[in-house]
Amino acid sequence: MNRDIERVLLSEQEIAEKVKALGAQISKDYADKTPIIVCVLKGSFIFMADLVRAIDVPCTVDFMSVSSYGAGTTSSGEVKIVKDFDQSVEGRHLIIVEDILDSGRTLSYLMKTLKARGAASIALCTFLDKPERRVVPVEVTYSGFTVPDAFIVGYGLDYDQKYRNLPYVGVLKPSVYEK
Ligand code: PRP
Repeated sequence: MNRDIERVLLSEQEIAEKVKALGAQISKDYADKTPIIVCVLKGSFIFMADLVRAIDVPCTVDFMSVSSYGAGTTSSGEVKIVKDFDQSVEGRHLIIVEDILDSGRTLSYLMKTLKARGAASIALCTFLDKPERRVVPVEVTYSGFTVPDAFIVGYGLDYDQKYRNLPYVGVLKPSVYEK
């Protein structure tokens, strides 16, 4: 896998430090609440696992799966809930955990849907933000890193479902997806 990476954008250490800081901030902000930390599969699973361990206030977790991309590198604009919540969100404080905020379509749709279900509050914690690509405005509560509009993989992010298990974030060589 490493051979397909042009350059490392975020090292394991940089990521670990950032996740720790995000967890500390969330712990402070939610000291008197028991939020539901919502993992939006699949890309967020690694960030989610590290983030919840950096949070030291009581919380519960849940998982959603939405699909917006096919095997390609650009958003189709379609958002579909493939796997929904296992519990009611009414009156609960939600923190939606995403690996990357791109066009904003997925998050804008999810936040609207969860608000309509009666959540007490909804915050968004995204590991990466690509503001250059935004089509729909989204309010970000917690953001790890702002990244350029390059094709990046690793730490949960995929290309054609692969590279999610890279422990760092790297820029994919164009030769990989221009085949
Ligand atoms: C990615 C990411 C977000 C979405 C962001 O998911 O995890 O859910 O795209 O893009 P947007 O801001 O343009 O809506 P993807 O559909 O690639 O699925 P995955 O998490 O399973 O990799």
